[in-house]
Amino acid sequence: MCGIVGYTGHKPAQEIVIESLKKLEYRGYDSSGIATYEDNIRICKKEGPIANMESVLSESTSTTAIAHTRWATHGVPSDANAHPHGHTDNSIAVVHNGTIDNYLSIRESLESEGYNFLSESDSEILPFLISKYYSGDLVEALNKALHEIQGIFTIAVIHENHPDEIVAVRNETPLVIGVGNSENFVASDIYAILKYTQQIIYPEDYQIVRVTAESVELFDAELKSIDYNVETVEKYTEVSEKGGFEHFMLKEIFEQPKALQDSLTELLVESPLERLGLNWKIGSISIVACGTSYHAGLVGKYVIEQLTAIPVSVSYSSEFRYAAPVQGVGGLLSSRPLVVLISQSGETADTLAAARAAKQQGCHTVAICNVPGSRITREVDGVIITKSGQEIGVAATKTFMTQMQALYALATHLAFNSGSLDHPQYKLWESEIRRIPSKITQVLNNCESIKKLVPHFTRAKSVFFVGRNINYPLALEGALKLKEISYIHAEGYPAGELKHGPLALLGEDTPVVAIAVQDHTYSKLMSNIEEMSARKAPILTVCQKGDQQVPKISDYHFELPEIDPVLSPFPVAVFLQLLSYYIAHDLGTDIDKPRNLAKSVTVE
Ligand code: F6R
Repeated sequence: MCGIVGYTGHKPAQEIVIESLKKLEYRGYDSSGIATYEDNIRICKKEGPIANMESVLSESTSTTAIAHTRWATHGVPSDANAHPHGHTDNSIAVVHNGTIDNYLSIRESLESEGYNFLSESDSEILPFLISKYYSGDLVEALNKALHEIQGIFTIAVIHENHPDEIVAVRNETPLVIGVGNSENFVASDIYAILKYTQQIIYPEDYQIVRVTAESVELFDAELKSIDYNVETVEKYTEVSEKGGFEHFMLKEIFEQPKALQDSLTELLVESPLERLGLNWKIGSISIVACGTSYHAGLVGKYVIEQLTAIPVSVSYSSEFRYAAPVQGVGGLLSSRPLVVLISQSGETADTLAAARAAKQQGCHTVAICNVPGSRITREVDGVIITKSGQEIGVAATKTFMTQMQALYALATHLAFNSGSLDHPQYKLWESEIRRIPSKITQVLNNCESIKKLVPHFTRAKSVFFVGRNINYPLALEGALKLKEISYIHAEGYPAGELKHGPLALLGEDTPVVAIAVQDHTYSKLMSNIEEMSARKAPILTVCQKGDQQVPKISDYHFELPEIDPVLSPFPVAVFLQLLSYYIAHDLGTDIDKPRNLAKSVTVE
């Protein structure tokens, strides 16, 4: 979603912020802009890629700048709606991530006072409001403006009277301060500035920050100066190359064996439950996440419930916080509920809101996250870090894989701890988890046969993905991957549900991808395939190696490597990712940056 970068120091700021802004491009955006201090504030902004803005940008000697990539919420993508927003007198420039809920009433009142708005953006009230309150101190003016606005935001401001100063604040969306050597940074995301510094300050909500080249100050709501910690973060290996692959998504699909391997050491450690603060008999677990992470959570439910006696519910983050209190809240401490939040980015607004709601209810919270230092890792009681490395493709692939792996590891630890797995059984599970990377490598090595399936899908009106039991979430994930990168309509369903409505849609132009592994639901799934076939839907099945029956009732099939059905979601996921990728490739879509989507969804 929107990205913010600001620099103040002694070097040409324009180049630095543009380079930093490009580090955030992978997240998805529709326009970009920059404000520098020349004789007064100069704003340059353009719809489209950063290169569009660069092509109209003049030279600058400014050593202070703020820049922004916008992902439209209020108002279409356009030059006018792009950030920074300024004042007609060129005194101020503001960039904003998030949304301002009460902007309409503020805008009306500012308009009645004579302020002239040029855009449809909710953010444009900010420069006017801050200017209105400005009487020499930018921190004070921003603080007064904050008393009027409601919503979620990260805001960064520069003003012509303070050419070496950036003032910033956050509420519920990310803001980090990078501390350099006679230069300082503000950003919505550490990736933007890690090239320059690993010394990071994480301000809390409503703490106002003032940075100059030589100083960083934090103020509370009473404008009292407050202390802060500077943390040294691990340098994230910067990913800028596709390594010979045509798209980041394909590269990331092929990186999955390594991602799983790298994450293993984090997951199969000594006493992991103590490390997560899970030192009581857990009565229930709620898993909460969005999108692909939610699908990993659903897989987690099946595996935890299969290995332990603990009931698991899975909710979308955006629903969880408005739902009835978690079961067990208010009971004895020994039955304190566990809420597991899954977010690869650690910045998803809905999942953060759910984490806060769970904490407020007294639940113990554990996050599964791929970005160390991200917001969620700082707010929960325990953290499992997956080590997928940076994921650039908007469609989640390797992070999904390691999220599932983390949940399998958690399930085995919980099962061993509660006595439902004895030590030899636990060791068996551990060795099975260790073998997953080699299993998925076998699917990757078979990618040519997946490519051959593509022509059966490119003209499809709609595609149904079905599965049962632990592969039902994979059907959901297969459908999500296909629709987000190929723009073909797709639905994921439990195979037994089609006859309760969706069968009405099946026909020759509606292929079905059926995940048919040999677990206890196998024979029922066979009947479901027959039902779909009878409606003339072309059937592609994903079956286990050596299966003699499923291929006979399928139009096409793909064989998984030999694997226990309970571990089948891993190779199935790779198959589905590659299928979607090759279909989208054939259709010529923008695979790494699908339309309308963002990598990190920081609005609710
Ligand atoms: C789909 C995808 C999204 C994310 C969702 C949650 O490919 O990437 O559905 O899974 O936006 O994001 P995180 O995991 O960062 O909370």
